[in-house]
Amino acid sequence: MNRECSLYDDLEKVLISAEEIQDAVRRLGERVSLDYAGRAPVFVCILKGAAVFFSDLMREVSLPLTTDFMAISSYGSSTKTSGVVRILKDLDHDVLDKDVLVVEDIVDSGLTLSYIKKVLHERGARSVRLATLLDKPVRRRTELEVDYACFRIPNEFVVGYGLDYQEKYRNLPLIGVLHPRIYMEEA
Ligand code: IMP
Ligand code: MG
Repeated sequence: MNRECSLYDDLEKVLISAEEIQDAVRRLGERVSLDYAGRAPVFVCILKGAAVFFSDLMREVSLPLTTDFMAISSYGSSTKTSGVVRILKDLDHDVLDKDVLVVEDIVDSGLTLSYIKKVLHERGARSVRLATLLDKPVRRRTELEVDYACFRIPNEFVVGYGLDYQEKYRNLPLIGVLHPRIYMEEA
């Protein structure tokens, strides 16, 4: 994407560059390939935020994996979690006896992922692990084990590489801190 693009004007700063993301995703792909050696895991993408990370990650994984997609709502359009988790689109396939790797863009309160993990265990998955691009540990409101995280970040609202604010900024190739003036009116 052209750096002149007006989306860049709404950023306070760049937190993680496109190159840093690519390196981290490649390393994670190698690690997952080793950890799941001899198995054929199901990669579950949590729509829509994880779509970019998911499509890059799976191409770095040397395994006969399969993919499935789930859409969850916990946020509405606000920058703060509502604490309410709802399945908007469920998986197409059964996860019974499968090794599931849930791929998420960011773990914030942890409410979304702990809910998904519980649901997948109840459905009889053999194992459920979590991979996230970003982890905001200070915001955690529930105990949740994150198996794979590419970056730990401070408590700032970020966009890009799939992450949105009101559905915008997902196509930025990097992770940036959104300028607070963009969402000030909401507070
Ligand atoms: P959690 O249930 O609070 O962990 O929420 C995770 C979801 O909240 C993510 O999948 C994102 O859609 C959204 N989210 C949390 N923090 C941010 C952020 O800084 N930028 C954009 N989306 C965020
Ligand atoms: Mg979102």
